Amino acid sequence: MKTEQQHSHKASQILWRLLKENRKFVSWWFVLLVFTLVTTLLISSIPLVVKEIIDQALLKNNTALLFQLLCLLFSIYLVHILLEGVKTYIQTLVGQRAVAIFRLRLFRKILSLPAAFYDRHPTGDILNRMEGDINVVDFLTSRLLFLSFSQIMMMMYSLGMMAYLDWRLFLVSAVLFPTVYAVQMYFGKKIKQKTLQLRTFASGIFTATQESIIGIRFIQEMGRRLFVGTRYIKSLRSVIRQQLHLARFSVFASAAMSGNVIFMLLISYGLGGYFVTQDLLTLGTLIAFNTYIEKLYSSLTVASTYWIEMQRAAASVERLYWLLDQPSLSRDGQRLERLQGHIVFRDVSFHYEGKQQTLEDITFDIQPATTTAIVGASGSGKSTLLSLIMGHYPVAKGNIFIDGIPLSSLSLTSLRKKIGVVSQQPFFFLATIRENLQLVKREATDEELYEVLEEVGLGGWVKELPNGLDTMVGERGLQLSGGQRQKLALSRVILQNPDIIILDEATAFLDNLSEEQIKRLLRSRFFGKTIVMVAHRLSMVREADQVIMIENGRICAQGTHEYLFATSLSYQALWKDEVSAFT
Ligand SMILES: Nc1ncnc2c1ncn2[C@@H]1O[C@H](COP(=O)(O)OP(=O)(O)OP(=O)(O)O)[C@@H](O)[C@H]1O
Ligand SMILES: [Mg+2]
Repeated sequence: MKTEQQHSHKASQILWRLLKENRKFVSWWFVLLVFTLVTTLLISSIPLVVKEIIDQALLKNNTALLFQLLCLLFSIYLVHILLEGVKTYIQTLVGQRAVAIFRLRLFRKILSLPAAFYDRHPTGDILNRMEGDINVVDFLTSRLLFLSFSQIMMMMYSLGMMAYLDWRLFLVSAVLFPTVYAVQMYFGKKIKQKTLQLRTFASGIFTATQESIIGIRFIQEMGRRLFVGTRYIKSLRSVIRQQLHLARFSVFASAAMSGNVIFMLLISYGLGGYFVTQDLLTLGTLIAFNTYIEKLYSSLTVASTYWIEMQRAAASVERLYWLLDQPSLSRDGQRLERLQGHIVFRDVSFHYEGKQQTLEDITFDIQPATTTAIVGASGSGKSTLLSLIMGHYPVAKGNIFIDGIPLSSLSLTSLRKKIGVVSQQPFFFLATIRENLQLVKREATDEELYEVLEEVGLGGWVKELPNGLDTMVGERGLQLSGGQRQKLALSRVILQNPDIIILDEATAFLDNLSEEQIKRLLRSRFFGKTIVMVAHRLSMVREADQVIMIENGRICAQGTHEYLFATSLSYQALWKDEVSAFT
């Protein structure tokens, strides 16, 4: 019980925050409130007109009055429809704007979250929040409050009119209100629980679909379709089962709830009918009274579903705020206009969250305008070391200095603009070759683009494409070959013209000819820049001024290639196969 209260307290806090953040819509809310007030009053006054029709017009054979009252009734409907139309338009305007603003804030947030966040949280979950949960913002900022408000008003109005029409009948009904309320609340809560369960099952389908699309090649190659299909069918089954269960329960619940109304109406018609026969009550009053009873209960039912809806929506908004409140990468810190490219690691240790030490006591000094090769077995921590240079993760121990300034006091956003990266899996947008290149230099002309493409050995290929620079590269660049992707990423770095260049196995997919081109690049275009590259090929390592060898997260050898080859056994072992292949 306590947690329930705490939860609802929390829900109100969350909703309050949402309203506060959307306070720019407050004048629209005021307009909506007035509209709601007027439409509710209009619709609630209809039984009174009907009462007059029966008592004054029909029972007294007054056709002139009947006509007037019917005209009044018609005008009420007309004005009501008009107001509702305008209200709906304003609601859409407010709701959709609020959603768009919230979306934009979330989008900015996901762009600013650190790499460590994405290591911990699966993409599906983030997408689910941004695409699924966001929709309640529309409902909450434009509808829910006014809907609830109008239902509560309707209830108050109905109660007031019942008391006004006949206080004896009102007192008898009043005794029964608490039980009716209890029944309504009980079933409401049950339906909420069951709906939530249904959503959990439904998200199972979502996950199964998403995973299957991403892993489609593996699934088809391995012939695992059967396995995936079975899992999918299982999720479908549980959803259907839960839906049927919910349907059965809803029938039962609505029977119980409408049973309430019928019970009340029976009592009211019984007692009220007796009053009418005794001339203690007019027929029109009795009919109006019972209409208000029905209105009261329908409002109560609707209001209780809104209450449940509000709880559910608050849970969704909480999920959105969770994402929005994640700490962003800091934009503060010293900005450097140009980097010399002096990189120093001093006793740096690092581990990924919840994992054991990945890098331990790393100390090295990379002088400006030199080329450094990082070598080591797979999983030894080479890529991790590169991501530390870019400040993707804070280090646990030790210090990193760029141009003599601690990395922690530099503005990371400004630092990264000065670093060019070709990673193991370079990223491209679902856009054309031109757009993907112009990302780093908006004003680059076609000649300039072809020039850099030529330098990495892609010029001829792009020229021969039917659409040339306007060729789409496919999602994540998947329509390109591995080598083309790396070359394109390289050309992007040339355009970017950074001060430090980081190459993570940039030649892994390239043939010997392309490798020659890259080497030429290192000597010409990238001359005078600080280059840090992870390399698996001896020919690339030979280009470096110094080599750092990593073994299980520690530096095991450091120096020029010739020096290491002459002194380090493990370094010799690293090249054993390649050297014997040449000799
Ligand atoms: N985002 C991550 N979260 C947790 N652990 C990670 C993450 N990335 C890498 N690791 C782990 O850290 C260790 C070092 O990985 P890293 O990618 O630096 O190796 P590498 O030397 O670049 O290997 P390779 O030559 O295969 O690219 C590995 O054991 C890996 O499992
Ligand atoms: Mg790596």
